Amino acid sequence: MKDVLTLTEAEAAAELQYLAEEMEKSDIAYYQNDEPYLTDSQYDALKLRNLQIEARFPHLIRADSPSHRVGTKINTDFGKVTHRFPMLSLGDIFSVEELDSFIMGVKRFLNTAEDIPFMSEPKIDGLSFSARYENGIFVQGATRGDGTTGEDITANLKTIRQLPLVIKGKVPEILEIRGEVYMSKQDFLDLNEKNAAEGKKTFANPRNAAAGSLRQLDSRITAERKLSIFAYTWGEVSERMWDSQEDFFNHLKEWGFPVNPNNKLCHTLKEIEQSFTHLAEIRSSLPYDIDGMVYKVNSIALQERLGFLTRTPRWAIAHKFPAEKAITTIQNIRIQVGRTGALTPVADLEPVNVGGVIVSHATLHNEDEIKRKDIRIGDSVIIQRAGDVIPQVVEVLKNKRPSDSQEFIFPTICPECGAHAIREEDEAVRRCTGGLTCPAQAIERIKHFVSREAFDIEGLGSKIVEEFYQEGILQSPPDIFSLEKRNVDGDLFSHQSCAGLHLESRDGWGKKSVEKLFNAINNKRTIDLPRFIYALGIRQVGTATARLIAKNYISFQAFMQDMVNKETLKLVEIDGIGANMATDIVEFFQEEHNIITINRLLKEIAVEDFVDTTNYDSPIAGKTIVFTGTLEKMTRSEAKAKALSLGAKVSGSVSKNTDYVVQGADAGSKAAKAAELGVKILTEEDFLSLIS
Ligand code: IVH
Repeated sequence: MKDVLTLTEAEAAAELQYLAEEMEKSDIAYYQNDEPYLTDSQYDALKLRNLQIEARFPHLIRADSPSHRVGTKINTDFGKVTHRFPMLSLGDIFSVEELDSFIMGVKRFLNTAEDIPFMSEPKIDGLSFSARYENGIFVQGATRGDGTTGEDITANLKTIRQLPLVIKGKVPEILEIRGEVYMSKQDFLDLNEKNAAEGKKTFANPRNAAAGSLRQLDSRITAERKLSIFAYTWGEVSERMWDSQEDFFNHLKEWGFPVNPNNKLCHTLKEIEQSFTHLAEIRSSLPYDIDGMVYKVNSIALQERLGFLTRTPRWAIAHKFPAEKAITTIQNIRIQVGRTGALTPVADLEPVNVGGVIVSHATLHNEDEIKRKDIRIGDSVIIQRAGDVIPQVVEVLKNKRPSDSQEFIFPTICPECGAHAIREEDEAVRRCTGGLTCPAQAIERIKHFVSREAFDIEGLGSKIVEEFYQEGILQSPPDIFSLEKRNVDGDLFSHQSCAGLHLESRDGWGKKSVEKLFNAINNKRTIDLPRFIYALGIRQVGTATARLIAKNYISFQAFMQDMVNKETLKLVEIDGIGANMATDIVEFFQEEHNIITINRLLKEIAVEDFVDTTNYDSPIAGKTIVFTGTLEKMTRSEAKAKALSLGAKVSGSVSKNTDYVVQGADAGSKAAKAAELGVKILTEEDFLSLIS
């Protein structure tokens, strides 16, 4: 091979073309056909050669160059993309009866008694994307956003190997291909395992992992995540070269887009039903999550006649699968001890596949729940997984109960520290009285302290906090801020040797990671008041209450002084704080160990006085809002923060005092309650336009 430095321009151009084609072939073999023919090092050698030539001849970089797949960092927010054709959503149905009436409706609309062919497609549980091609070259990628405006994710989409950067063959001048970005079940498990090992955040399900990976400002991170796509529809096209959904899929395949192999053209209602049953059966063995089926009228001419309802097409519908259930047995009932000492029962299950996810634990909520359902070790139970929620036990199969089965006795002694566990009158939970002498409580307190909405210290994940606690490196939050000093000097006062911790020599650590951790810690030596109050981990004090307190007291000193002096009444005067919560807050400040911890912290860090930036003129000022379901454009915490900054109150439960319920995808009982109480329900888009 010729040295890059001696290549002529013509030779360089020819070689770049060869490299782009060769690597694309290899990508298709690897990512789409599962038949890799290059080894990793052969592939890396091509990649390097390509980069070297491009570095010398930057003007020769091709639109389909594999170097676009590595990603770059952007520092600002995602740009906005206005969809030239809105990205619509679909109406939902949940039963065969509803399917029947949907098909009838279509026929009635078209005034025909004949069967209409439908394309039946698995509904991929991911995030929709739109990819715009001009003259066959990928020029822009966007998320769905609110359907009208999405976010510019061009750089992130480029890192997905299955997405062609250049389309070959006959293709319309302007072509927007739409489909779903998803993460396979296996890639999701691998990513979580890796993240857990590194003490990083794990994801609840493949969909969240895909969303988190795609919405990265640093697309180099997206490039490291294994994302996949299926294409299934189009947006703007300059010339429609197909007249049916089936025909469109054939074009997609020719152009090199992945098309779901289970898409099936159905000619009768019976065939549609069969496709639904078939997919429901093989669902758990598919390598990716699906949450139902989508049926689309196959003929585009008929689609055009049918047209649209307000936000959804009349020619397509989503048929959702029922909540996923499975039968398994309870091998053990374990008691977990939380930050505030609450004893939570957890069932260890015989691992079972529930819709593609292996479930081995279920929450049993509390003592009364176990009593009410009479749940026992050894029982066969029906468990259910719905959306993000932790699996639950729906029903005990009493007829399968072993004859020697015994009622479960809830412990009155903390299984972690042996202190008494007591249950106050009117409380559902039993709590350990061991306080911080209980290791479980101490560890959970530290985890809470470093968590995202508290001090948000990256690098101190759950696993590491546990290890550090067991090894005596971290016993309570203030120890975090002396880590760096103790790393070199050691600590004469604890049982750590004076030789220093030398975290950099721990397994899997190094100079860089230790430096990063210390930087993350030092960056948090100044903290705002709401975060600080929340981080203390006072029982019942969540982010919203912490903010209320901060707003009323302005400085931590003022707050602490009142609490130490048992000024419960002053707390109760704050709108939003009840007597019960006020008692918990005051009690927290009566415990000597809490005061010692706070004073030690205040030696290490500065707590800023509260600055009120609330906009009291906003349209939601003074309103009470409940968020429910999965939001697409922002996280729940972002939405909450936004609402609070606009003067709204955010509540966790729906009541007649609620002004708005903002409903995301997969909303559950809260949305139902809102409907029942006649509370106004907003979609995420409605909410955004209300506050914009
Ligand atoms: S078609 C107008 N086909 O489901 C047609 N959507 O509620 C628009 N989805 O936002 C979409 N698999 O994210 C279509 N085979 C499929 C799909 C699919 C998953 C998602 C998509 C869309 C949502 C519709």
